[in-house]
Amino acid sequence: MSARRFFVGGNWKMNGDKESLGELITMLNTASLHDETEVVCGAPSIYLDYARSNLDPKIGVAAQNCYKVAKGAFTGEISPAMIKDCGVDWVILGHSERRHVFGECDELIGQKVAHALESGLGVIACIGEKLEEREAGTTEEVVFAQTQVIADNVSDWGKVVLAYEPVWAIGTGKTATPEQAQEVHEKLRVWIRENISEAVADSVRILYGGSVTGVNCKELAGQADVDGFLVGGASLKPEFVDIINARA
Ligand code: G3P
Repeated sequence: MSARRFFVGGNWKMNGDKESLGELITMLNTASLHDETEVVCGAPSIYLDYARSNLDPKIGVAAQNCYKVAKGAFTGEISPAMIKDCGVDWVILGHSERRHVFGECDELIGQKVAHALESGLGVIACIGEKLEEREAGTTEEVVFAQTQVIADNVSDWGKVVLAYEPVWAIGTGKTATPEQAQEVHEKLRVWIRENISEAVADSVRILYGGSVTGVNCKELAGQADVDGFLVGGASLKPEFVDIINARA
């Protein structure tokens, strides 16, 4: 298995309140988590300080989005500086819901990646094709183009984790098969090797996201180029511990 440290992110999305998230945090703080796995929980912006203040320091916290500049007249937005000010070290960017629900284009996502890294945040950068793009045979074309824009804005690959999340698998229960996931991850790593560097290809973690559960995580985790997960629904449930321990 690779030397890349296994990484499991939880994306709580727009879910929870202080009571339910407090129970989740207590569950994670008291669970037996594989210490070789890097764990980061993506909290709603309004609960970033609460999550950071209550989660065990061994568990990282991520914002689920941020804007592309440090401050200004951008009502409702949050900046990387504000995220850092809460003691939070990560941000999820380019999530398919930001792209396809809120209309974020590759250019804006690239600008956000650049500013987040300049501000000292780690970036979980999301890519993934829609069902019609897979059915049209354009999966590689889509994910390579998304990755190119991200790569054009990366100043430090040591602070970046890629998350391949086929849109058709997100929230649908239609998880990619281990073979489907491995195929895209392997091709992404080859693309990185050919277009960025050998060193980045060997070191960057490529996560799989899309209906990961405590049942399917082990087989997915056994794939050579699957370096972890970005988990939505299951990250709010006790089975998230099983997913964290998928390589234990
Ligand atoms: O960011 C992870 C998320 O998009 C996956 O959601 O519910 O299919 O695990 P889910």
